[in-house]
Amino acid sequence: MDEKSLETYVNYMRGFEKGLSSEQRLSWAQRQCYLALSNALNGAKALGFDSCPMEGFDPKGYVAALKLPAHIVPVALCPIGYASDTPKPKVRFAKEDVFMRI
Ligand SMILES: Cc1cc2nc3c(=O)[nH]c(=O)nc-3n(C[C@H](O)[C@H](O)[C@H](O)COP(=O)(O)O)c2cc1C
Repeated sequence: MDEKSLETYVNYMRGFEKGLSSEQRLSWAQRQCYLALSNALNGAKALGFDSCPMEGFDPKGYVAALKLPAHIVPVALCPIGYASDTPKPKVRFAKEDVFMRI
């Protein structure tokens, strides 16, 4: 992307963000994180690693433990490594319960 197009895009996104309340901004940012997280999960697998996306943790505790800047809001945890040599069986919904043909 050339510099002018990038500037136009950045200004567009800043305008979009300004129109959101703080709750909407946080919700939007969290959803954006999940897009990146799904890429991380798939990318890890493509490189031969396993991962374990997690919520249910104490975000403030992580900010303190990792000495993160106060404006950072941890959204999910994602350890990446090698799973157990004897993994438990996978539990998955049937494809027809997950995908919709329109
Ligand atoms: C501590 C912990 C927290 C987790 N939190 C979430 C969660 O918030 N949402 C979710 O979808 N899965 C969560 N999981 C599930 C895992 O990310 C993963 O989906 C699960 O281990 C099964 O993975 P598999 O079926 O690919 O083996 C959590 C797992 C652990 C161990």
